[in-house]
Amino acid sequence: MTRPETVLLQVQGATKRFGAIRAVDGVDLDLRIGESVGLIGPNGAGKSTLLALLACDHSISDGSLSFEGRDVTRMAPHARVVAGIARAAQIPQCFARLSVHDNVLLSALFGAGLHRQDAEGCCADTLRQVGLGDKAGTMAGALGLLDRKRLELAKAVAARPRVLLPDDIAAH
Ligand SMILES: Nc1ncnc2c1ncn2[C@@H]1O[C@H](COP(=O)(O)OP(=O)(O)OP(=O)(O)O)[C@@H](O)[C@H]1O
Ligand SMILES: [Mg+2]
Repeated sequence: MTRPETVLLQVQGATKRFGAIRAVDGVDLDLRIGESVGLIGPNGAGKSTLLALLACDHSISDGSLSFEGRDVTRMAPHARVVAGIARAAQIPQCFARLSVHDNVLLSALFGAGLHRQDAEGCCADTLRQVGLGDKAGTMAGALGLLDRKRLELAKAVAARPRVLLPDDIAAH
């Protein structure tokens, strides 16, 4: 039996409506420490919407979310990154006029809360891990789709989250 204290993220009855569309309908989920969970379903099934709810990027219509035993249902997106939940969105989002390095550095500084020197180290390690080590100085807006997906993942990883939510990260 799994001990309740090992549950990191708990979702109860999560529902998201867009007008008449019920994109996510009453989802219950317990995510435990060390667990990897895959979410599969056809196009339009609601996978991205559920991940956006978990990341607090959409306001929830019904239901509740708790993280490490704390109610985060109405938490602001930037606060949940600091709390330890990071999403790599299906459609990459970056600061197009900042370099790849600076995009990831911002996550290390303001997501992970690292001091400058540690943040620089985290940034370099993460860029190497995702295969962007040689593109640190490139403007993010100049990257092709695959590299933008890599950058999206790097930003999430550099925030040093306890829960990482990669959405269709390998699709192109
Ligand atoms: N911002 C929005 N406004 C209105 N409808 C939306 C919005 N976002 C998603 N939807 C609708 O919600 C449903 C679920 O979409 P979602 O993107 O979550 O599916 P998905 O499972 O991630 O699909 P895919 O495999 O194509 O990525 C779809 O019917 C979609 O059109
Ligand atoms: Mg999707």
